[in-house]
Amino acid sequence: MQIAIASDHGGFKLKEKIKEYLNKKNINIVDFGTYDKNSCDYPIFAKKVCAAILNKKFERGILICGTGLGMQITANRFKGIRAACVSDTYSAKMSRLHNNSNVLTLGERVVGHGLACDIVDIWLKSEFEGERHQKRLDMIDKL
Ligand code: RB5
Repeated sequence: MQIAIASDHGGFKLKEKIKEYLNKKNINIVDFGTYDKNSCDYPIFAKKVCAAILNKKFERGILICGTGLGMQITANRFKGIRAACVSDTYSAKMSRLHNNSNVLTLGERVVGHGLACDIVDIWLKSEFEGERHQKRLDMIDKL
């Protein structure tokens, strides 16, 4: 699986940590920026990753900002993106099993690096359960 990743300045350090973590596990990851700590605007980077997923170039994406919230709010404006802002491993797992989340958002100012890597790990491993949950996701798309 190829993963698209991006952050703003508030998530830059955690993005670098997660890239290092996934590289060690031989998971393919493509970085859509930002590439330094200079102040920037998270919607620009959320859009890049969401577009790459909607164009079917990537199956899933990870977006990081200070809280994870700006990235989540932006990503969920794109039809077909199901972004979950997560700060615990249980929610990470359930966002896949029940909500088929295709974007994980994280807050660098909320979760430590170790927990963030565990969250990414479980999120990547967990599979959507489909069935009754698919029916509910279809309902969301029709809203
Ligand atoms: C940037 O200071 C901060 O507002 C941003 O990273 C994010 O937390 C927004 O939701």
